[in-house]
Amino acid sequence: MENIKFIPRDEIETHLEAARRIAEGFESRGMVGDSAPGYYIQTFGCQQNEADSERLAGLAKLMGYRAVSSPDEASLILVNTCAIREHAEKKALSIIGEYKHIREKNPELIVGVGGCMVTQRHRADKFKMSYPYVGFTFDTGAIHLVPSLVLKVMQKKGRSFVISDEYKIAEGLPTVRREGGAAWLSIMYGCNNFCSYCIVPYVRGRERSRLPEDILAEARELIAGGAKEITLLGQNVNSYGRDLDCGETIASLIKKICALEGDFRIRFMTSHPKDASEELLEVVATEPKVVKHFHLPVQSGSSEVLRRMNRRYTAEHYKAIIDSLKEKMPDISLTTDIIVGFPGETEEDFEATLEMLRYVKYDMIFSFIYSPRIGTPAAAMEDQIPAEVSGARFKRLLSLQDEICEERNRRFVGRRVKVLVEGVSKSDGGMLTGRGDMARPVHFKGDESLIGSFAELEITSCGSYSLEGKLI
Ligand code: 5AD
Ligand code: SF4
Repeated sequence: MENIKFIPRDEIETHLEAARRIAEGFESRGMVGDSAPGYYIQTFGCQQNEADSERLAGLAKLMGYRAVSSPDEASLILVNTCAIREHAEKKALSIIGEYKHIREKNPELIVGVGGCMVTQRHRADKFKMSYPYVGFTFDTGAIHLVPSLVLKVMQKKGRSFVISDEYKIAEGLPTVRREGGAAWLSIMYGCNNFCSYCIVPYVRGRERSRLPEDILAEARELIAGGAKEITLLGQNVNSYGRDLDCGETIASLIKKICALEGDFRIRFMTSHPKDASEELLEVVATEPKVVKHFHLPVQSGSSEVLRRMNRRYTAEHYKAIIDSLKEKMPDISLTTDIIVGFPGETEEDFEATLEMLRYVKYDMIFSFIYSPRIGTPAAAMEDQIPAEVSGARFKRLLSLQDEICEERNRRFVGRRVKVLVEGVSKSDGGMLTGRGDMARPVHFKGDESLIGSFAELEITSCGSYSLEGKLI
């Protein structure tokens, strides 16, 4: 089993060795410390991509590069792309287009493009033909190859466009973690669900779970390194362990992580409703270290649309899970993903989605206008919805949810809450931002030395998108 799922250790070592050779080359030319060449990583898309980029950063560091804050200063640019919607692909193409000018000024610049977009053959071919300054592309199963691909470009041995035959787990890659107290921990990769709109199963391969002992070792390392929040990541964490045949489930795994010593908390995402077990809901309710927030993508409130989306649950089944969560935890924060304008969506179907919003009263929703993806069944369905219709529905959805958000945020006003201080507020540099059980960030005045630790706040006011508080 292990041989099938995991990239052999000696194969990983070959590529890490290539990284060390690159670093030695820089060292021999005195290019170390502040004189080391810079690396810049541009990341699009989901948390899984952010976690992958932390491994890319780990590899770049092992290659002897140092992090720089703008692509103009870089000698190595790695782009981690997303393919979930057309907009994400267009944005990546436009940014990669701009790197052409940087490369004209610096012919030594190496540009590599990875991620979900270039895991599609037509996109990798496009880079090969039309982006001569892109030295290599690497699919989602080829992160460990990056040092060897960089070395090949340095040695002028040609460009590479890697599309793997199969996707395996690469253990043992170095990482550079994000700052602050929150850390990503990938527990599985890939997806088996083939929702009819979604490109993910085609670009991330089948589900494969990491071994519990590898996950626990990483969790221990994170906690020892000062992490205060660990988010367990996977495309559908609710099916964690199914491919391992060792009886481990997401619920039992969370329990084991919670049993580790330390003052930290756990989040997990994403959960597929069809696999949301009572056992998992119970763990969220009873484990004090699990944040009282559940992200449960519903996609649509219409059972007929859900059927055509191949989601394998009905609106009623979904509501029953929500009822069970609310019964166990009346104050739980709930969030979801919604797609508007799926092929064939009628006004009645859309009304059912609005009804779902009113029923659940989500703290926040992530909503998207349906975007056809080449190769997925939904892209070939009849009755694609005109952009004006989707756009108008999208606006109605947002305006209803704005009201619900404010109502939900208001329940916190006057309460004492514990938040993890994540950093300086992006909208107001004089404030800090913290996160707790509520889905929205809390802004408050405080010293930057608090970043990366827990703080006790009293919530003083709220809007639809954020809350304000003061330190107690
Ligand atoms: N169009 C629009 N939204 C999509 N999502 C996935 N595929 C598509 C698509 N083709 C949304 C789903 C998913 C979230 C990550 O992105 O809501 O849960
Ligand atoms: Fe895409 Fe569905 Fe898999 Fe989520 S569960 S990644 S929406 S196919």
